[in-house]
Amino acid sequence: MTVKWVKKQKNVFWPSKELKQRAWISDKAIYKKAAKNPIAFWARLAEEGISWYKKWKKTYVEKLPYFKWFVGGKLNACYNAVDRHITTWRRNKAAIIWEPEVGEKNRVLTYYDLYREVNKLSNALNSLGVKKGDVVGIYLPLIPEAQISMLACARIGAIHNVVFSAFSPEALRYRLKETEAKVLITCDGYYRRGEIINLKKQADEGLKDTKIEKVVVVKRAGNEINWINGRDFWWHELTKNAESYCKPEIMDSEDILFILFTSGTTGFPKGILHSTGGYLIQAYWTAKWDFDLHDEDIHWCTSDLGWITGHTYVCYGPLLNGATMLIYEGAPDFPQPDRWCEIIEKYGVTVFYTAPTAIRMFLKFDSRLVKKHDLSSLRILATVGEPINKEAWLWYFNEVGQARCPIIDTWWQTETGGTLINALPGIGPFIPTVAGRSFPGTRHEVLDEEGNVLPPGKEGNLVQLSPFAPGMLRGIYKDPEKYFEIYWKKYGNKYFTSDGAWKDKQGNFRLTGRVDDVMKVAGHRIATAELEDVITRHRAVAECAVVAMPHDIKGEVPVAFVILKEKQSEGLEKELIKEVEKNIGPIARPSKVIFVEDLPKTRSSKIIRRILKNLLIDQPVGDITTLANPESVERIKAILKK
Ligand code: WTA
Repeated sequence: MTVKWVKKQKNVFWPSKELKQRAWISDKAIYKKAAKNPIAFWARLAEEGISWYKKWKKTYVEKLPYFKWFVGGKLNACYNAVDRHITTWRRNKAAIIWEPEVGEKNRVLTYYDLYREVNKLSNALNSLGVKKGDVVGIYLPLIPEAQISMLACARIGAIHNVVFSAFSPEALRYRLKETEAKVLITCDGYYRRGEIINLKKQADEGLKDTKIEKVVVVKRAGNEINWINGRDFWWHELTKNAESYCKPEIMDSEDILFILFTSGTTGFPKGILHSTGGYLIQAYWTAKWDFDLHDEDIHWCTSDLGWITGHTYVCYGPLLNGATMLIYEGAPDFPQPDRWCEIIEKYGVTVFYTAPTAIRMFLKFDSRLVKKHDLSSLRILATVGEPINKEAWLWYFNEVGQARCPIIDTWWQTETGGTLINALPGIGPFIPTVAGRSFPGTRHEVLDEEGNVLPPGKEGNLVQLSPFAPGMLRGIYKDPEKYFEIYWKKYGNKYFTSDGAWKDKQGNFRLTGRVDDVMKVAGHRIATAELEDVITRHRAVAECAVVAMPHDIKGEVPVAFVILKEKQSEGLEKELIKEVEKNIGPIARPSKVIFVEDLPKTRSSKIIRRILKNLLIDQPVGDITTLANPESVERIKAILKK
């Protein structure tokens, strides 16, 4: 018999008695208790959840725009994620189950395996000259070596910078250059839709003109690659003779654990900095409470490690908890659309965490494909990355969860390090399109442009209030001005999320999308400014504006409006799309390039993208009398009609 984890009441869902009994947290008093003294609350969590070499002196210090957690505390992230499990019964528990895209056998790494691999790689990195505080670039597909690399860096106090393997060589180069990394970890190739992608070739291209001196290469696909003796090292050879133990570096709570680049409103991605102590505590507790993670769970978060969701819920969060997690190398619908269902069934996945885009993609397929599989192992379903529409929520709930599982819609950002707004499984409620309450010990509000708190039901800007969650970013790499400008300038002592939201009377938040020029394309964060920057660099282009157009599966897709310097040449649209792929990656590909003669501008020459967007979706454009060139609107309308 399958357990019903939720019950329905007045069109909202609540945890069933079974779920409440099982859940780590089922008493909503926790919210009140935490709110009374959030700093003391987090201090207790820090003590219970993480092993420290030395306890901190001050729990929280705030001097805006900066704040610190567990000041003076000493710990090591890798020790917490790996070492502490190998002295318990979890030594031979599966830590990572890896499912390849095609053919061959899966791999299962126990905690002890992970421990051995991480130690050896740590020593190998040391032998290549990597020291505490150095940045190491990681450009790998979803294979266990990706987590091993992150953990090995953490073990020796190096800062990891993971670059999504589907990013282009140009995107890799930008990140390697910015961080001045001297070592890069990559692989020969990997499978995507049955084809081998030569990642080493992309890496070779991307590391030109950077400071990379050594490249560690995982042998994954066995494809032929270029090799430079003295620069390139096979992972298996380096680690074969490496010592089997590497003492974890004693790190300060505020030492940087990793840099992860993300898109903002500027033409280039920014390096978000995350600390060690605060980040780990939020990763540990959010993974445990949001997904009600227990030892017998099989946790599957479908994100790539190149995104923050991968860092926190495909590496640190589950491992800190000693959980078993599944990772899958390949495309979700390969070789057939029900591949994911097949995997859930094969491994008896209990916690499944994915993006609304994927849900909408599956919804398109015949629901019978889902029904073909026994998904009764599922207990918790979760989403992240973009607002989920009601249709997708209900389909996920009814078809995938068979109306048995709660849906945990988690709102958070690269900047916040871990989830922050969502319902907790043992408390609820689970309401389509509503994320839920602030995680215990954190506070959010909805403000108007002037900073006044808006009442329930009124949409405005979402902010976070002091004390800021421990896992929050500690700055932007080498750019304190941008850090201040983006997050703190608008509301002073409140962190500005750049998201729109409103809340209900019970304090549940509904997120309504970004209020800046950042798009979420298939859950991937992309800045319109980055695309514009690439497109305007093309010799034929005089000016360009990119806007997000709604899309039923991907949420939104970029559309570029382009003014040319010269007459339009054959194939220019394709050429511009190629430029974007080359400079950023295929995920940022514009769905359309529209050539226009003029773009709607203010008298101070600022392009009004809102008008372009409304024209695209056939909505009224509003008052255009203040534009410098109101006639441009009609002209663009005519082009769009064509
Ligand atoms: C959006 C992803 C609605 C939001 C973890 C945020 C969401 C941006 C949700 C961060 C959600 C994330 N509901 N919107 N549950 N989760 N977002 O940095 O706009 O890739 O600002 O981090 O995704 O994207 P990022």
